[in-house]
Amino acid sequence: MSVYNMLYLVGVGLVPEHITEAGIEAIRRAEKVLLDSYTVPVDEENVKKLEEIVGKELERASRTDLEEGATELVEEAREKDVAVVTWGDPLAATTHVVLTIIADERGVPWKYVPGISILTYIPSRLGLEHYKFGWTVTIPHGWEYAPSFYERIRQNCKRRMHTLVLLDVGEEPMRIEEGIKALLHWAEREGRGWDKIVGIARAAHEDEKIVYGDPEELLEEEWPDPPHSIVIPGKLHPVEEDALRRFSRGER
Ligand SMILES: C[S@@+](CC[C@H](N)C(=O)[O-])C[C@H]1O[C@@H](n2cnc3c(N)ncnc32)[C@H](O)[C@@H]1O
Repeated sequence: MSVYNMLYLVGVGLVPEHITEAGIEAIRRAEKVLLDSYTVPVDEENVKKLEEIVGKELERASRTDLEEGATELVEEAREKDVAVVTWGDPLAATTHVVLTIIADERGVPWKYVPGISILTYIPSRLGLEHYKFGWTVTIPHGWEYAPSFYERIRQNCKRRMHTLVLLDVGEEPMRIEEGIKALLHWAEREGRGWDKIVGIARAAHEDEKIVYGDPEELLEEEWPDPPHSIVIPGKLHPVEEDALRRFSRGER
């Protein structure tokens, strides 16, 4: 056990049951525990389950608490153990690395407690080769005015690489249907279309839903609540084709 107070960055994985012993221990030790409640849209039921597992109430933290209040938080960790708890991995597709930089600058010890991330779960779950993913992109709210996500996907496609497409959270977490609308919008402006893509809703949850098909087919599906993601496959190896076929309509 450390003699210093510590700032813990704890990843709990995609669902409460993914939390590791190291994660539980860090949360139990911390005097102040903040749950990042803006980088992944997770329902209250799962938050309650997590609280039961760790035996503690978790204080909900907004983007402002963790970004504008970063220096204050790091200074608090000098006085007592503080844990910032994040769904997935705390340092994957978040800005929490800034907390570690501030902690280093100020000489406050910190510890990274990894969690299962959507970034590795999705390629594995779909049976796609991790090595063949290019840029990961996020479709932002306001995608009509922000084509850079589309340009990055095109760069991946040109290199025949797969793309993991995350969907913006914000006030209202984006759904697969809106993500597809954004993809169709920018492709149509170039006179292009899309081959089959994959919709992934609530990965690792009991009601996880994954469908591989034409964008139009995916628009007809009934999707459970977010979090949602999309994968745009690049050139598929025959083994990857077999793996993805499991998620085609009629095969499920
Ligand atoms: C900003 S990223 C944060 C990723 C997280 N730190 C991690 O390591 O898993 C959040 C986005 O990932 C995707 N995502 C996260 N959890 C998901 C899930 N269980 N199912 C589908 N997509 C998910 C959604 O697109 C969501 O908006």
